[in-house]
Amino acid sequence: MISVVVVVIICRAFRGKFLSDMDTLLAPILGFLHCQTPKAWLDEARRPEHLKVILLDHLICELKAAQSAMYLIRKYAVDKASGDALLAWLKPYEDFAYRQQGDWRALAAANHISKGMIPKSGTPYGQELINKMVLLIKEELHHFYQVLEIMYEFNVPYENISSGRYAKGLLTQVITHEPHTLVDKLICGAYIEARSCERFATLAPHVDPRLGEFYVSLLRSEARHYQDYLSLAEAIAPYDISERVRYFGEKEAQLILSYDDDFKFHSGMPS
Ligand SMILES: [Fe+2]
Ligand SMILES: [Fe+2]
Repeated sequence: MISVVVVVIICRAFRGKFLSDMDTLLAPILGFLHCQTPKAWLDEARRPEHLKVILLDHLICELKAAQSAMYLIRKYAVDKASGDALLAWLKPYEDFAYRQQGDWRALAAANHISKGMIPKSGTPYGQELINKMVLLIKEELHHFYQVLEIMYEFNVPYENISSGRYAKGLLTQVITHEPHTLVDKLICGAYIEARSCERFATLAPHVDPRLGEFYVSLLRSEARHYQDYLSLAEAIAPYDISERVRYFGEKEAQLILSYDDDFKFHSGMPS
């Protein structure tokens, strides 16, 4: 009897520690975002018939996160040879997602880059951009593989899926001349990562425990990704970015709180 009581106390202590870790991770994210996910979105996302779209859209979001980070390094930080090595890293993932080529299991061994990245001369922030974004790409491609594993477990076959309005809705607000373009894109990246993190935390207690566990396992890296994007934007901008951060925060909240008839991982209020 005593041992059962001890086990219960230890389990509660672990659960309490786990929940406080989650709260610590989420606190800055909830402070950054201008709104939380509406209950109406969660109610839709919990419906068993929506599991397929949630998994497929999440899968493609992981690939897009890797592609966007890679685009930033290629455009702003590295020479052509390094850029080509980056493209070769991504190719098996794109072949699978867009051309249905290759076995998804082979992607586990594909997540590596063939050479070190050399920053272009004249980009003072180049090395920091490379360091943060290369780690981010590696993690996003690992998440891509992990979502495929979950899809296999839940018997959801891969198929093409159209993009929702969310990322495009943010990126159309990016100023089209430098240095604003890079800074705005980094701020958009921060919001997309922060919202993903908030959605994983929102969904986790309401889905199959295996899926919930996976979502919780993603929180730590996605929380760091949001901070990396934001700190890069602050370091690179030759001006105070707080006004742009507020601007994108408002736009992001509009996308989350306005009606959206295309249900997706980052969609707005179900209409
Ligand atoms: Fe990710
Ligand atoms: Fe991420």
